[in-house]
Amino acid sequence: MKPIFGVDYYPEHWPRERWATDARMMREMGVQVVRLAEFSWAKWEPSAGEFHFEELEEAIGVLGAEGIRCILGTPTAAPPAWIIRLNPEIEPMDADGHRRHFGGRHHACPSNPVYREHIRRFVTAFAARFAHHPNVIGWQVDNELGNSHGDLCFCPCCENRFRAWLKEKYGDIAALNDAWGTAFWSQQYDRFEHICAPKTTASGHNPSQMLDWKRFCSDLVCEFHRFQAQILRAAAPHAFLTHNMMGFSDKVDYFRLARQLDFASHDQYPGGHFRPRLDLPLEDRLAAELDFIRGVGGAPFWIMEQQAGITGWEVLGRTPRPGQLSLWAMQSIAHGADAVLFFRWRSCLMGTEQYWHGLLPHNGVPGRTYREIAGFMRQTAPLLEALQGGMPVCQAAILFSYDQEYALSIQPHHPELRYVDHLMTYYTALYRRNIPVDFVHDGQPLDGYRVLIAPLLFLMTPALAQKLRAYVQNGGTLVLTMRSGVKDEHNLCFAQGALPCLLDDLCGLRVEDYDCLRDMDGLVEWDGETYAVEKWSDLLTLTTAEPLAVYAREFYAGTPAVTRNAYGAGKVYYVGTQMGEALSARFARELEQTAGLEPLLETPLGVEAAQRVAQGVRYLFLLNHTAHTQPVAVPDGWQPYGGAGGDLPPYGARVFTRKS
Ligand code: GLA
Ligand code: ZN
Repeated sequence: MKPIFGVDYYPEHWPRERWATDARMMREMGVQVVRLAEFSWAKWEPSAGEFHFEELEEAIGVLGAEGIRCILGTPTAAPPAWIIRLNPEIEPMDADGHRRHFGGRHHACPSNPVYREHIRRFVTAFAARFAHHPNVIGWQVDNELGNSHGDLCFCPCCENRFRAWLKEKYGDIAALNDAWGTAFWSQQYDRFEHICAPKTTASGHNPSQMLDWKRFCSDLVCEFHRFQAQILRAAAPHAFLTHNMMGFSDKVDYFRLARQLDFASHDQYPGGHFRPRLDLPLEDRLAAELDFIRGVGGAPFWIMEQQAGITGWEVLGRTPRPGQLSLWAMQSIAHGADAVLFFRWRSCLMGTEQYWHGLLPHNGVPGRTYREIAGFMRQTAPLLEALQGGMPVCQAAILFSYDQEYALSIQPHHPELRYVDHLMTYYTALYRRNIPVDFVHDGQPLDGYRVLIAPLLFLMTPALAQKLRAYVQNGGTLVLTMRSGVKDEHNLCFAQGALPCLLDDLCGLRVEDYDCLRDMDGLVEWDGETYAVEKWSDLLTLTTAEPLAVYAREFYAGTPAVTRNAYGAGKVYYVGTQMGEALSARFARELEQTAGLEPLLETPLGVEAAQRVAQGVRYLFLLNHTAHTQPVAVPDGWQPYGGAGGDLPPYGARVFTRKS
């Protein structure tokens, strides 16, 4: 049977005599799987080729005796001191050309061939030893790939790899000079060997080079993963391979990484590193990250690390309120998690993460958290069993693109414009209406969605423009925004055509001018109501589009800000600004009315409704993210799951079912 609940466990942090107690207490609370080993290289290989896996094997055996299965992580996020002493050149280099040193983690260059040899030796032995262990069911390469790897590494080795990557992409140096616009500031290259990683400069950077560098870093991390994945797959073809991703972290293109996996996993820490307020709403962002990871794998996912207590390293976040940890875990399940592992089993007595609290406190004696999560596992197990493989059904999708995110992080225009935050203005508006959303990438079929929201398509290609055109032609409702069709795939501005280039006729308008709203908010008017907008105003001249909202400030007051254009069998909305909360809500209503988006249910603010469909049964989740009791009536046609009905207590959840 597939395990559904688990914990992240570090037997090497605890005396052997404690392991059996831990394993028993895990089993008693409902734990069926643990992830382990991902940071303990020094222990298993104290010197080159001298392997000591006995202790790990013993721990796996102790867990197995309680029926607990294991996922093994390769420990390459923390190479031991002896490797660094032997080969100091594998320490990563920052953008100033300084090495980052041993003493934390991630102190290794992802491309260094000497480091790769150390990895090959270790992972080969590790996989050979445990591939056929009956209790080892899956593997994870490294840990949270991209966590630090994106800002690093600028070492000579990575620089060489970058040159090779560019050579492969452009073929000859003239093509690169064109693509990077090196005529500017005399940046022309005669040969690939002269190109450097974009280290700290005296002044400025070439945006085209920066974009390729970010793409390269993402590809390098994927290749780093593949290098280990090949060893593991060859040794353990029957086991699954997954990776613990970090939501909207931008260092690695997760859509690409996910292709190497059997399923995606995610680490969900609603408390962040030290979130000072747990009472401010954030559940929309949490929901979006979960939806994003579901989109990345196109399937249900695992939570490899679900917050188990107070988060914190040097400083601490707030204590999750009673019920809140369970609610957050339930939210993961509601958005598509097929298994949830809590990080970590017991708060560590040593090291950087002493205050990243586990299910058990430092003294190992079960307390409030253990009891809460034990209760949660007991109550939720039958539901999660029934949900296996179940997905939400979404009528709306948001197009997510790392290329757009990279290009806009290089040139955010407005100092506070963030790609993900901008996407969130749309997500949140739909979330508040309980309209479920998928995240999609531009390489996948889009026809199944009534509404496709494609914000900030800063870089445009003829192929993407064609795909969007066909989508609308066939009846889709497309939402496009400010800063679309500005540049080509090389991050060069288009030489011809009106903004949004390649899309202007689709939108039925031209962007003739624009205003970056520095240190001020804008205002628009829609049907006699005024709404705040932020960061940007596109000044629009309409050809076939009709205005919906018009600006109400500045010299362009009275000109269109939000428009709608009929095209083929579909419609295109253009939003020339970043909408504030009230305007996004108004806009979501517009989409409901014209494209027929259906909310799952009306709920009070702070109560989320989500849905999964499994084996012909619909499961409706109601999640109360507030500190107050919320009244809920059983929705028409639904049965309370497990008989539980009535008001939603603070941080409480209810599930309803109905035949689909
Ligand atoms: C991440 C990592 C874990 C641990 C936790 C807490 O999610 O994957 O190894 O470091 O954060 O900091
Ligand atoms: Zn490097």
